[in-house]
Amino acid sequence: MQAPAKKVRRPLIGARAPTGEMTSARKIYVKSFGCQMNVYDSERMTELMGAEGFAETASLEEADVILLNTCHIREKAAEKVYSDLGRIREVKSARSSLGKSTLVAVAGCVAQAEGAEMARRAPVVDVVVGPQSYHRLAELVGRAGPGRQIVETGFPEEDKFTVLPQRAPAKAVTAFLTVQEGCDKFCTFCVVPYTRGAEYSRPVRDIEAEARRLAEHGVREVTLLGQNVNAYHGVGPDGRPWSLADLIARLATIAGIERIRYTTSHPRDMSDDLIAAHRDVGKLMPYLHLPFQAGSDRVLAAMNRRHTAADYLDLIARIRTARPDLALSTDVIVGFPGETEADFGETLALIERVGFAQAYSFKYSPRPGTAGAGLVDQVPEEAKIERLHRLQALLDRQQTRFNSACIGKVMPVLFERRGRHPGQLVGRSPYLQAVHAPADSALLGRVADVAIVAAGANSLAGKVYVGETVPA
Ligand code: 5AD
Ligand code: SF4
Repeated sequence: MQAPAKKVRRPLIGARAPTGEMTSARKIYVKSFGCQMNVYDSERMTELMGAEGFAETASLEEADVILLNTCHIREKAAEKVYSDLGRIREVKSARSSLGKSTLVAVAGCVAQAEGAEMARRAPVVDVVVGPQSYHRLAELVGRAGPGRQIVETGFPEEDKFTVLPQRAPAKAVTAFLTVQEGCDKFCTFCVVPYTRGAEYSRPVRDIEAEARRLAEHGVREVTLLGQNVNAYHGVGPDGRPWSLADLIARLATIAGIERIRYTTSHPRDMSDDLIAAHRDVGKLMPYLHLPFQAGSDRVLAAMNRRHTAADYLDLIARIRTARPDLALSTDVIVGFPGETEADFGETLALIERVGFAQAYSFKYSPRPGTAGAGLVDQVPEEAKIERLHRLQALLDRQQTRFNSACIGKVMPVLFERRGRHPGQLVGRSPYLQAVHAPADSALLGRVADVAIVAAGANSLAGKVYVGETVPA
């Protein structure tokens, strides 16, 4: 068992500041790969290092600490890390010849999966830290140095969320908020149960406090994150486990939080109360990311998804009854071992029947340690590429159709940032589409009705709507 990290531990690395640089803040460069949870984790690590006196920099060459927060979900994502480390090695040695030291830390799922192997393969790396231990990043960076590589990939007893410093004032209108981590589903293609560990839900009180703090600092929309977020079952203020629907209802009472979203969900955990929340909770946006992965029951069984295509369709029908305008998004994999042309046809057929507003599609990538990687009938690369093209053509058509159908509608848009053109703001529709409109900057951080006048493949354009009738 590891001793819980101390809550007050400053300065851990102050003594290591190079002479002559005491007055200028030391700098950290952070790069995040992969999912939204990594974005959240990267923000938390940046805040943590900020509390140690590190200012964020966008320049690799300026950085005293370089942090890569990595993704292991597909082979390409992991390879990208090693190619970045090659470049970092050059930067580190160039800085070294100027008498500047550089500490390289690798966090996230590649760090977790490879651990000491990564330290061996990439000697430029000083710290390897897994997703469950990153609250100790400052301490690890403080201990590491030339000839002292540190690998920390355990699943510590302490809860990192209670040890992390409070969130820094938010700079944005929208924020991610991790409520659940890890996964017990063991889909046979997926590394998450190995890299992120067993399912864990944060207590309601902690999440509520974090959401209130975000709201006080101007955040108007929170996206609740979890690898299997709708399996959420955190302890409530009454000491009993609360469902995701209970949590959402609670967060909806926070003044200032105007929109709530959540991702990513598993069809098996789409409980009746969560479906009802889509009908009853006005702040819960009518958008749902619900991966189905494959349309063939044979492939679904081999993937250990524990639902059939018919189950998925039935679920969609029930959710749409609760919230008829709900926009759906999904993840699909092509070329899982044993997938035939007929199986793939069933994936296309399911997509035709559902109609998605958006989707992410992937070629199957065997991941070491997963059950899928050991299956004999791997699909040839050319077949995967060809199927992916056909799949993406269909999904693109559906997305364009969904966006085009918005023309002429008036939608509440939460304006998040300035656009590229002067006088233009960019926000999101309830259905997560980016919406561009000429608008006064006083509308930043506010929801305004926008009449949609044009649609592209990835965004909408509109005019702030003040009149009684929709402008032509
Ligand atoms: N190969 C291809 N895609 C994968 N995904 C997860 N693991 C793999 C893999 N080994 C996809 C799934 C998941 C999304 C986050 O990434 O569709 O929902
Ligand atoms: Fe991976 Fe999601 Fe399956 Fe969990 S439910 S194993 S995170 S794909």
